[in-house]
Amino acid sequence: MKALVLAGGAGTRLRPITHTSAKQLVPVANKPVLFYGLEAVAAAGIRETGIVVGDTQAEIEAAVGDGSAFGLQVTYLRQSAPLGLAHAVAIARDFLGEDDFVMYLGDNFIVGGINGLVDRFAHDRPAAQIMLTPVADPRQFGVAELDSTGRVIGLEEKPRQPKSDLALVGVYLFTAAIHEAVAELKPSGRGELEITDAIQWLIDAGQRVESTLVTGYWKDTGNVTDMLEVNRLVLESLDTRVEGTVDAESELIGRVVVEEGAVVERSRIVGPAIVGAGARVCGSYIGPFTSIAGGCSISHSEIEYSIVLPRASISGVGRIEASLIGHDVEVTRAPATPRAHRLVLGDHSKVQISC
Ligand code: G1P
Repeated sequence: MKALVLAGGAGTRLRPITHTSAKQLVPVANKPVLFYGLEAVAAAGIRETGIVVGDTQAEIEAAVGDGSAFGLQVTYLRQSAPLGLAHAVAIARDFLGEDDFVMYLGDNFIVGGINGLVDRFAHDRPAAQIMLTPVADPRQFGVAELDSTGRVIGLEEKPRQPKSDLALVGVYLFTAAIHEAVAELKPSGRGELEITDAIQWLIDAGQRVESTLVTGYWKDTGNVTDMLEVNRLVLESLDTRVEGTVDAESELIGRVVVEEGAVVERSRIVGPAIVGAGARVCGSYIGPFTSIAGGCSISHSEIEYSIVLPRASISGVGRIEASLIGHDVEVTRAPATPRAHRLVLGDHSKVQISC
């Protein structure tokens, strides 16, 4: 069995963070979303992994390398343009050969890994096995319709009037039967070759398509609320680990990770929280469910329930909450007079000011 991990796409829904970074590399508990997927693939006993990349190829390659850090053997497959998930399968045709494979969307986050799914698939070998989960707004997803026995009878990509609230999760298992379906596809209304249509083709051709229901699923929706929520979820299972330096005037409460080379002085950190390698926290309060990435500096400030990306600095500001702060961002206190906010914000930034 092989894996096909999709890590292309522009990530428009996660701007401005994705102006400078691939969406699959946005960190959750200081680790790129993509890495959780690669770990799940490796844990399921798969080695040969194709990663489909687009414009952000260099960045993905720099982060993942040859895959050996994950116990994987990675081949990069370049997709000329984001022409759909089924298009990604088509360009991977030679790499996949006649093997069964799991297709894993690199921006999806699934709690609990994929071992159970892969085992079930290897045992039953339907033409396709999909994962479904109930969602609040199915119009943003592929949506499945089931009959009274739970069998998948129809799939629609981002329907205006969804027939159920069951969304297709971004992990699919296929036998080589999918290639015939993909070869028959025409571009959808949004100009893409949809994997949803390919699976529908299998159903129409009388082939077996199985589904499993999952919980603990998250997809980047450009909705910072979701990212903070998945960050919370991952931090919930954090174990205390202090490899950096914490001075005697500081207090760590609950499960806190202070990575190597990080320095915590005169501060109070209430876990679960993580302070990345080489970060400095000085005279500050870090509250629960906060991930501070490597190289950040937090001084005389308070922050809680937030994600801070590498090398950002926050200095002399009151409580920051429910925030996502990008690479190399600087947040500082304004001079006392005139009493005003001074902002230099990149395109597509979002700011909420409490006056
Ligand atoms: C894609 C699929 C959709 C699926 C979703 C899961 O959507 O087309 O069926 O529900 O991934 O992440 P897209 O990421 O293209 O919006």
